[in-house]
Amino acid sequence: MEIIIQPTAGEAAGIAARIIARLLRKKPDAVLGLATGGTPLSLYQMLIGMKLDWSRVTTFNLDEYIGLPREHPQSYHGFMWENLFRHVNIRPENIHIPDGNAADMPAFCAAYEKSIRAAGGIDLQVLGIGSDGHIGFNEPSSSLASRTRIKTLTPQTRRDNARFFGSEDLVPFHVVTMGIGTIMEARTNLLLAFSENKAAAIAGMVEGPVTANNPASVLQLHPSVKVCVDEPAASQLERADYYRWVYANKPAWQVV
Ligand code: PGA
Repeated sequence: MEIIIQPTAGEAAGIAARIIARLLRKKPDAVLGLATGGTPLSLYQMLIGMKLDWSRVTTFNLDEYIGLPREHPQSYHGFMWENLFRHVNIRPENIHIPDGNAADMPAFCAAYEKSIRAAGGIDLQVLGIGSDGHIGFNEPSSSLASRTRIKTLTPQTRRDNARFFGSEDLVPFHVVTMGIGTIMEARTNLLLAFSENKAAAIAGMVEGPVTANNPASVLQLHPSVKVCVDEPAASQLERADYYRWVYANKPAWQVV
């Protein structure tokens, strides 16, 4: 795991943006896995500003609420169109977001997995992390081998996300999410975390045991993970000085 600690969220997001820009320039038909929530917003703004060519890019989003109409402003369809897709030249047919209103959800989930494989797999998956260590919406106790399926949010995640809905009562209970096994098949995972609220989850993910209690900790078993964090999110890392040292002494060819 490469832990990139930056003074501010903006600087950490800037590094993530450069990593993605480099991939899209090198591989114009890259397959990106995308995330929603507060964390990737600045990343998406930076990517829009970079005027990259998205015409051959394919995307798969991690998750979606079940039961919200697509047009609902807090649906992840709505989020992605508002905050990224409508600003870039991506082809609508290359966009994949789980359907939270599928009539046959298990069949939809199997088809989603199949379409990721048919696209050649995900080159780079953008991840946030929940304050409880979830990635996608794989809450603690999720199988570390899980595939795309329905999950029930924890009360903590519903409270965390109430800020988007105005009231906790309006946050759906159920979601459809790529599984942890699905995320582990991405060739690279790029995880972003900002603010003190994420510090315990980040410390558990990087330095704790691999455990379904902190689903993100499974990324210790993935061969290519980059973690872009601000100082508050890094504040509980025991080896933070070492991670800074590694980043400061990267060979020139590895610097983004
Ligand atoms: P946030 O959510 O970016 O809104 O903090 C992260 C997540 O739940 O994965």
